[in-house]
Amino acid sequence: MKPPLKIAIAGLGTVGAGTLQLLERQADLLALRAGRRIVVSAVSARDRRRDRGVDLSAVRWYEDAVAMAGDPDIDVVVELIGGAEGVALAIIETALARGKHVVTANKALMAEHGTRLAAQAEAAGVALAFEAAVAGGIPVIKTLRESLAGNRLSRVYGILNGTSNYILTTMRESGREFAEVLGEAQSLGYAEADPSFDIDGVDAAHKLAILASVAFGRAVDLAGVHTEGIRHISRLDIEFAEELGYRIKLLGIARLTENGLEQRVHPCMVKRATPIAAVEGVFNAVVAEGDFVGRVVLEGRGAGAFPTASSVAADLVDIAAGRQVAPFGVPAAALAALPGAPMARHQGAYYIRLMVVDQPGVIADVAASLRDQNVSMASMIQRGRAPGEAVPVVLTTHATVEAAMRQALDAIAALDTVLEPPRMIRIEDF
Ligand SMILES: NC(=O)c1ccc[n+]([C@@H]2O[C@H](COP(=O)([O-])OP(=O)(O)OC[C@H]3O[C@@H](n4cnc5c(N)ncnc54)[C@H](OP(=O)(O)O)[C@@H]3O)[C@@H](O)[C@H]2O)c1
Repeated sequence: MKPPLKIAIAGLGTVGAGTLQLLERQADLLALRAGRRIVVSAVSARDRRRDRGVDLSAVRWYEDAVAMAGDPDIDVVVELIGGAEGVALAIIETALARGKHVVTANKALMAEHGTRLAAQAEAAGVALAFEAAVAGGIPVIKTLRESLAGNRLSRVYGILNGTSNYILTTMRESGREFAEVLGEAQSLGYAEADPSFDIDGVDAAHKLAILASVAFGRAVDLAGVHTEGIRHISRLDIEFAEELGYRIKLLGIARLTENGLEQRVHPCMVKRATPIAAVEGVFNAVVAEGDFVGRVVLEGRGAGAFPTASSVAADLVDIAAGRQVAPFGVPAAALAALPGAPMARHQGAYYIRLMVVDQPGVIADVAASLRDQNVSMASMIQRGRAPGEAVPVVLTTHATVEAAMRQALDAIAALDTVLEPPRMIRIEDF
């Protein structure tokens, strides 16, 4: 057997401790699969006294994780601290500069710096592996980059944030409002004290930018991701979605269009019969559409200590076995920027919910605003009657251009009889 692969782990929190436990419990299996043992030689975290669930007495402890990344005795640096800048970036840059392989679960960092770091890794002849950074335990990077290498992909989309999916699922099942369900998710530990990364779509945008780069062989373009979250989704919208045969999901969608690469994260209405609609709770899913393979659906746990450790371990086995591919599937020099398709030119169908005064002529005014922008209505629901009071009116449209839809919504919002800002959710045709 070849000499062991010596690794250093920076960060021993949820993912780091999970990885330590997996490497200990599966050591023999991993050695068989990799053709050599994978040995944790050094670790670093903030608090040396904290119990990480495994015996670290024989492992070198570094107070300074960046110094650890330069340790000449280490083959692979595993960065599990987090954050797009700061110590995590310094660790990865140091490791690559010293010719060491890098494994990371850090989507924020890969979304910001992935293209540049991939070029640095390629120049150094080492691996930069990040399976754990997107959709936790779901092997989506390897699937897109290697297993689907024979295809041109036209579209990749998925549920990329378990917290948002949990909140939407619970709202639907319990009939409660967003704020209440978010509070409960926070007390159960499913949502962070500062939940904005999850519920405002930022985390999903990081993951989508990475996925799009792997899927389409383009430079990672985080700034090009149109990003909206789920704060505005109300119980009413969820009820209407059910009535119309849809589920509301926060999706990340990347596709090639004639206007360029479209990347968007926002709540979507998806038909209840589609596989993605059935992905509930904290689960994630990714769907890829290829010209030879057709549709491939991957589903699983998108976060958590052990699922994420499973992906870190897979990257380590590849490195130990000497299996090395370009981080984004093509040489760094080929990762050209593709112009982003402007959201204003997006084409699709829309769900619109209005709160209007229940009086004659309101619907005619709304219909006129749509007609003025050439937006054609597909269906309308008007529920309840309360003369002179606010009632919800829901419209769906046929496919139309986003810019026209926005203009129509501005005109509708300006009507005296429309009492709240109109709510708009895009309908996806999968
Ligand atoms: N949690 C998940 O389910 C999940 C899933 C996929 C990807 N990820 C990604 O994995 C990474 C880690 O996430 P996590 O949830 O495991 O985070 P976490 O539980 O907060 O753990 C962070 C770890 O980093 C250590 N740390 C912080 N600053 C440090 C420094 N300056 N030097 C050395 N160590 C330092 C902390 O030390 P102490 O323990 O001593 O405080 C802690 O062990 C992030 O990039 C995250 O986005 C997480």
